[in-house]
Amino acid sequence: MTDSMIAKVLVTEREIDEIGTRIAARIDEDFKGRDGGRLVLLGILKGSVVFLGDLMRKLKTPHEIEFMKVSSYGAGTKTTGQLKIHLDVMRSDLGDCDIVVVEDIIDSGRTLSYLVKYLKERGARSVCTCTLLDKPSRREIDFTADYIGREIPDEFVVGYGLDYDEKYRMLPYVGVLTPEAYTGSAK
Ligand code: PRP
Repeated sequence: MTDSMIAKVLVTEREIDEIGTRIAARIDEDFKGRDGGRLVLLGILKGSVVFLGDLMRKLKTPHEIEFMKVSSYGAGTKTTGQLKIHLDVMRSDLGDCDIVVVEDIIDSGRTLSYLVKYLKERGARSVCTCTLLDKPSRREIDFTADYIGREIPDEFVVGYGLDYDEKYRMLPYVGVLTPEAYTGSAK
């Protein structure tokens, strides 16, 4: 059973809902009365999809959506800061786009740090960042998101989009995985 692999619930459905409502209200406020441009929520696959879907329905400001999928190159990433882009934004001109990059979690900070630079280089009108969860204790690059749902300790969390081996993304809450779930001793 999926739930039996969860040692404890870290962020409840109710808190996730409150976080989404708070962040959507702030984005609405921040983008109120801006002069032209398209507001684009850019979800980073795959972990962000659930949060992005909820955020979309809470935002009052009309917006569009895009997706990217990126990953680390491995050993060289630390020195070059380069990430491999598996899926890029599906539009060529970002000049009229105010982009809010949406993440499920920030860990080392490499993904968002790289993407902000990349999207600005691609000519985006503006770029800001939003994450449901933040693990500041894991940071390897100095990076702070514009909209942060909640800071969490360095625990193995799954649910609400976050996975372990592609499992648990469908859980409606964020939970801490039992060690048995990833050491193979679970039945
Ligand atoms: C996770 C998360 C972020 C990234 C954050 O993605 O969704 O995109 O890692 O880590 P960083 O701050 O160290 O760069 P993951 O690679 O697990 O892919 P997934 O979203 O498809 O599960």
